[in-house]
Amino acid sequence: MEFRRINGLPPYVFATINDLKASARREGRDVIDLGFGNPDLPSPDVAVEKLAEAVHNPRNHRYSASRGIPKIRQAISDLYLRKFGVAIDPDLEVVTTIGAKEGLSHLMWVLVGPGDTALVPSPSYPIHIYAPLFAGADVRHVRLDGPGEDADGQSPGAAFFDNLMEAWESAWPKPRVIVLSFPHNPTTECVDLEWMTRIVAFAKEHDIVLVHDFAYADIAFDGYTPPSILQVPGAKDVAVELYTLTKSFSMAGWRVGFMVGNATIVQALTKLKSYLDYGTFQPIQIAAIVAMNEAPDYPKAVNECYQARRDALCDGLNRIGWEISPPRGTMFVWAPIPEPYREMGSLEFAKFLVNEANVATSPGVGFGPGGDGHVRFALIENEKRIGQGVRSLRRALTRLTPA
Ligand SMILES: Cc1ncc(COP(=O)(O)O)c(C=O)c1O
Repeated sequence: MEFRRINGLPPYVFATINDLKASARREGRDVIDLGFGNPDLPSPDVAVEKLAEAVHNPRNHRYSASRGIPKIRQAISDLYLRKFGVAIDPDLEVVTTIGAKEGLSHLMWVLVGPGDTALVPSPSYPIHIYAPLFAGADVRHVRLDGPGEDADGQSPGAAFFDNLMEAWESAWPKPRVIVLSFPHNPTTECVDLEWMTRIVAFAKEHDIVLVHDFAYADIAFDGYTPPSILQVPGAKDVAVELYTLTKSFSMAGWRVGFMVGNATIVQALTKLKSYLDYGTFQPIQIAAIVAMNEAPDYPKAVNECYQARRDALCDGLNRIGWEISPPRGTMFVWAPIPEPYREMGSLEFAKFLVNEANVATSPGVGFGPGGDGHVRFALIENEKRIGQGVRSLRRALTRLTPA
C-alpha cells in the first residue's frame, strides 16, 4: 500500500541490533546493553510518590491543559531562572510538550513546509533530520565533527560553525531554520556560550530561527556547564529551546518536556498543539512540578553516576588500545571504529560486537551517513557491567592488543 511521509524512511538500523541482542539473550548469552539511550536510573522518589497520590484524585482524570497547567509552566520558569539566570514568562514563553521529541516534531510543522530548508547537523539524533522532513521541508546536512576532531587549536564547535556558514552560503532558498543540540547526541560535541553568541548573531542577521534541543542540559563532566542558548542576550528574538526531564531527572517514560524562548514561536506551537493533544496526563504534570521544585539536585546525582560510568568505559577502552577522548557531556561515548575493522562500516561492526563480545552498541550510520565511522556506547549499565563489557571487548578485539 502507498503511504505518505513514511515511504522514504530507511529501515531503522537500531532495530537490527536490538533483534540481535534479543536473540542472543534468548540463547542465554549475557549481553551488556550499551545500545539504546534509555536511562536505567530510577526517577526521583518524591515524583513517584506524588504521582501515586495525584492519580487517586478523580479531578486529575479529566483532560488537562495542552500547553501545561499554570504551575508546571511556573516551575520551568523558576528552574530556568535558578539554573541559567534566564527569565521566562510562564504565560507566553513556555509550552509543555510530550517529551522533547514530540515538541520538536510538531514545532517543525509550524516553522517549515514544502519549499523551505532546514540546516541540520550530521550526524544527528534521528528526529532532528526527520522532523523537518515530515513537515515537507528540505534538509541540508551540515558536518559536525566530534570532540578531538576539530582542526588543531580550534575551539569546540569551530569546525561546525564554519560548515554552517558554508552551507548557508551555498543553500537556495535560504534556510529558515537551524537545528542545534549541545551537548550533542551522538558525537558528544560541546560548545560554550561564546559559540552560542556567535550563532545567535548570525541568525539575527539572516532572519533564521534557531531550534536548540537541550536534552543533555544537565549531563556534563569535569566542571563543564553547558550553556542554554537563552543565556545569550537577545536570543529570544530568534531562538527556542527544548528542555526535558528525560535525562536530567531520569524520567524518560513520563514524557515531560518543554519548549521555552521566543514568545511568537512558543504561541504558534501552543496553538497547533491545542488542536492535537490535551497535554500530558495531569498527575504526571503534578509529579513533574514536585520533581523540579523538590528534587532540584537530582540532576547532579544522575550526572555523577554517568561520570563514573564514562570513566569506567573510557579508561577501559583506552587500556585495551581503543583510543577514545572522554566526552565532556551527554550519556554517550562516540567511538571511532578501530582501524582493523573500519572497512566493515558501523552496522557490520556493531553486529560483530554483539555476536563476538556480547556488547550492544548503536551503529553510527543510524545517525545519518556522517556517523558511519563510529559506534555509540550509551552509559546505561553500571560500572561493574561496563568493566565486564570491556573485558569481553578485549577478548573479541584481540587484533587490537599487542601479541
Ligand atoms: C538529542 C535528544 N533529544 C531528545 C531526546 C528525547 O527526549 P524526550 O524523551 O524528552 O523526548 C533524546 C533522547 O535520547 C536526545 O538524545
